[in-house]
Amino acid sequence: MNTVKTVLELRAAVARARGEGKRIGFVPTMGNLHSGHAALVAKAAQRVDFVVASIFVNPLQFGAGEDLDKYPRTLAADQEKLLEAGCHLLFAPTVEEMYPDGMAGQTRVSVPQLSEGLCGASRPGHFEGVATVVSKLFNMVQPDLAVFGQKDYQQLAVIRALVHDLNMPIQIIGEPTVRAADGLALSSRNGYLNEEQRAIAPALYRSLSQIAAAIRDGERDYPKLLAEHQLQLEAVGLRHDYLEIRNARNLRPATADDRDLVILVAAFLGATRLIDNLHLNLDTPA
Ligand code: PAF
Repeated sequence: MNTVKTVLELRAAVARARGEGKRIGFVPTMGNLHSGHAALVAKAAQRVDFVVASIFVNPLQFGAGEDLDKYPRTLAADQEKLLEAGCHLLFAPTVEEMYPDGMAGQTRVSVPQLSEGLCGASRPGHFEGVATVVSKLFNMVQPDLAVFGQKDYQQLAVIRALVHDLNMPIQIIGEPTVRAADGLALSSRNGYLNEEQRAIAPALYRSLSQIAAAIRDGERDYPKLLAEHQLQLEAVGLRHDYLEIRNARNLRPATADDRDLVILVAAFLGATRLIDNLHLNLDTPA
């Protein structure tokens, strides 16, 4: 696996692969990779002949006071994991390479409606930063397909929308969330948790699963159901950001008639913000 740092080198390597008739898959990341990322790369490797991954901690998607500076940079370990998972080329640019003219005047891509509410409410500008960097990376790599984790459900919806709305000929694949044995969704941010917090964190997925089970059993009073679980989460020390039941397709607040649902949660443990979600289609068996 080659690692390149400039757009010029990236384009040359991708052009060589294309010249050999290969289909290109792409997995954008911010590094500090875990088995969830490896699953994205492995999925791409199953589907195409040449897998490109990127590692770039994108300042444009971090708000003031977020963890941009302390976000772990672990390039050597990440390279090993990528190689093992079947990656052929790593693009690891600097901030200057991605934003040579600075960020203030950078053209932005914004996806209204889907970016509003949920994580968009507590992280203003976040999805514009994600949509902008993903659009840039897509234009640099020009992949046939790209793989993203379903753990960032709203992000995946935003990316599907931008690819559709901007007519990009890229297939977007959502990969199921990889979980620890106790249900906690794998995330680079789990590394910020101390032992006590790590023991509390699986309560998020427990709540999501219990809410899903209650809905399957016929509960349709969503405000009451959510309020009960919000109290439970707060009781174990998970500070509330949001807990919501939404329409899985358009992310609008779910009505009692909606059949395709997603339950989404974000909560703080100390300074660490964790998110998770559970997709629930009432027309398919559990
Ligand atoms: O999900 C992430 O790691 C990031 O938001 C992404 C998609 C790589 C864009 O910076």
